[in-house]
Amino acid sequence: MSAPTIEVLFTAEEIAARIAVLAGEIRDAGFRENLLVVAVLKGGFVFAADLIRALHGAGVAPEVDFMSLSSYRAGTTSAGTVTVLRDLETDVAGRNVLIVDDILESGRTLAYAKRLLAERGATRVGLAVLLDKPGHRVAEIEGDFVGFTCPDLFVVGFGMDMGHAFRELPYIGHVVKPQ
Ligand code: IMP
Ligand code: MG
Repeated sequence: MSAPTIEVLFTAEEIAARIAVLAGEIRDAGFRENLLVVAVLKGGFVFAADLIRALHGAGVAPEVDFMSLSSYRAGTTSAGTVTVLRDLETDVAGRNVLIVDDILESGRTLAYAKRLLAERGATRVGLAVLLDKPGHRVAEIEGDFVGFTCPDLFVVGFGMDMGHAFRELPYIGHVVKPQ
């Protein structure tokens, strides 16, 4: 079987330019002070790594913590079940919090994360996603800061995987299955 080919959708240069713009938007939207960036593992780690450095360039000095969530898509239950696999070490009470993830699709996991951090007393919880796939939304949630609207394709790279592969690609691509 030959290796799959990957069609580039967003180049490394396009992504870098967009992240720089997002960082300015995040600063200007009032997340500048007392900011905690919550990177959602695993898919969000590359975007979060570049975003915090762009935030530095925009004059923002965030703290960073990590969270890992698993979403179990139980049958036809739209709510699904979300489990916290790795929780934050940081107390979010009274802080500006920015959740950072790779893709907003059904929105189940991120709606859960937003609600959880708000319940813990965060002053404000924003959501930054590199890609928005709006066609499959189940939860009532939108990204506050969105890198790109993504076509309805399975994408990899820039932290996103297919069966644990391709996270290391510096661009975002679509996997074309070999014939
Ligand atoms: P949801 O919004 O709760 O449905 O979860 C979206 C998550 O599904 C993302 O954070 C990714 O981990 C994963 N995902 C969705 N679409 C893709 C894709 O095209 N490539 C890789 N992972 C995806
Ligand atoms: Mg994810």
